[in-house]
Amino acid sequence: MIKELAEKRRSVRTFDGKRPDQAVLDELMERLNTAQMPFPVSMEFRLLDHMSSPVISGTDLYIAGKCRYTEPMAEVMFGYVLEEAILYMTEQGLGSVWIGGTMDRKAFEAKMDLQEDEIMPAVTPVGYPAKKMSLKETLMRKGVKADSRMPFMELFFRDSFGCPLTETDAGQYLMSLQTVQAAPSAVNKQPWRVVVRDGAVHFYERHDKGYVTEKSDMQKLDLGIAMCHFDLACKEAGIKGSWVISDPGIRCPENTEYIATFITE
Ligand SMILES: Cc1cc2nc3c(=O)[nH]c(=O)nc-3n(C[C@H](O)[C@H](O)[C@H](O)COP(=O)(O)O)c2cc1C
Repeated sequence: MIKELAEKRRSVRTFDGKRPDQAVLDELMERLNTAQMPFPVSMEFRLLDHMSSPVISGTDLYIAGKCRYTEPMAEVMFGYVLEEAILYMTEQGLGSVWIGGTMDRKAFEAKMDLQEDEIMPAVTPVGYPAKKMSLKETLMRKGVKADSRMPFMELFFRDSFGCPLTETDAGQYLMSLQTVQAAPSAVNKQPWRVVVRDGAVHFYERHDKGYVTEKSDMQKLDLGIAMCHFDLACKEAGIKGSWVISDPGIRCPENTEYIATFITE
């Protein structure tokens, strides 16, 4: 079940030192580089050896990806595609963690042959989780309250942002929205907001300060991750629909940006 898988996944920062078999890695990279996505954009993923991050121990193997910041929805779709792979990794017993900040960017970007119009939004280490978390990892998790999520009714709404959606009223979308609620996000900020109205599920980004630069907005990754969780859960529940970008013009709270809509068939 995708909801259980999403709830089981956690950021893994302490690995056991064992390198996954090449066949496992090949399959993973094949999936990443041929992934389907709601709004196709070009992106490329590479497996990189001998890399490091100050928050990671027990592996030097990473997956990094790049896309063009000039392409609309590029970061959102990057979030979607890498999260689908991360859920697959979780299923295979592999550990991962989204790393958008705590790394030597120059070193990774050089290995990715990053061009002027490209960005490398995030990387993840690959390996098997160690039995025990490092002290650093335990403290990091406490620092961002990694084990908790905001209440359902603060994230999801009915018809307008003025009307919180109860779990009872969520109807057929309940499981898909709970799967969104379990998603990882940068610094666990959970910037996804959703308004359900007339069979349409509108996704919004609630901007926190400090994530937007000239070429990137890390919270766009969070939105793609949320869309991935929603999509996979809907597919599993037999809820058919398609993604569009068509702002319904619902009055938004401050710093809240419309991203995309899932239209139920
Ligand atoms: C886009 C994105 C960027 C992240 N960047 C980092 C990072 O640079 N370093 C890090 O240690 N964790 C990073 N994380 C992991 C989050 O801190 C983590 O997902 C969140 O605290 C929730 O914990 P969980 O993944 O264990 O559920 C990032 C997560 C996301 C989604």
